[in-house]
Amino acid sequence: MNARFPARALRTLALVVATGAAAAAMADDENKQMNIDHPVYRSECGSCHIAFPPALLGANSWRAMMAGLDKHFGSDASLDAGTAAVITKFLVANAGRRDTSGTDGSPQLRISDTPWFRKEHRDGHDGITQGIFRSEAVKSAANCAACHRDAGQGDYSERNIRIPKNGARS
Ligand code: HEC
Ligand code: HEC
Repeated sequence: MNARFPARALRTLALVVATGAAAAAMADDENKQMNIDHPVYRSECGSCHIAFPPALLGANSWRAMMAGLDKHFGSDASLDAGTAAVITKFLVANAGRRDTSGTDGSPQLRISDTPWFRKEHRDGHDGITQGIFRSEAVKSAANCAACHRDAGQGDYSERNIRIPKNGARS
């Protein structure tokens, strides 16, 4: 018998269990707190795009994002130190409980890159068609409000989802 096998099998099992638990924790966060109720956060971080729900990224990701606002996805979203500190506090307090690091170990900065998002928005799931995120009507997976009509209010409920008709790639 290979003595190393049980250890490796256990590690694999632990990974599978941890991944399942993380998904459950994310789903839990998702239902309990899509809190975007913070006037400073909403005005400073909801001007170029909707104010994203803090619950959809871990505290590690929000800290990393807030530390690099001068190079924010090709934009300069810099804030004065006081405002940045107030917003960071709100984001971290309402962050998802799970660490959102990528496979390389660095914090993921896009909600739309997280395993949870990819699974929830996979091709074929509830009207998501291949290429929809790059379609003329949607343009980017970050454009939540293209489908979640009340995303600006932090409402992602299923009854408020409308996938644009011309979104499908022919
Ligand atoms: C000057 C405009 C601007 C401001 C201000 C701004 N952002 Fe952004 N943000 C962007 C752009 C541009 C993108 C990339 C959008 C895309 O890929 O379609 C982005 C993307 C993001 C994403 C990733 C979305 C995803 O899942 O793909 C997050 C999260 C985010 N911003 C958070 C913030 C936070 C937090 C603040 C406030 C501190 C902020 N943004 C302020 C321009 C801005
Ligand atoms: C192309 C349309 C589209 C875009 C763009 C989109 N979503 Fe979704 N979203 C959906 C669909 C369809 C579902 C699946 C609803 C279901 O489970 O029945 C969904 C599910 C969700 C859910 C779970 C809702 C629930 O009650 O189960 C959340 C939260 C969510 N999306 C957040 C986001 C965020 C945040 C963004 C932007 C970063 C985004 N979505 C961009 C279409 C979209």
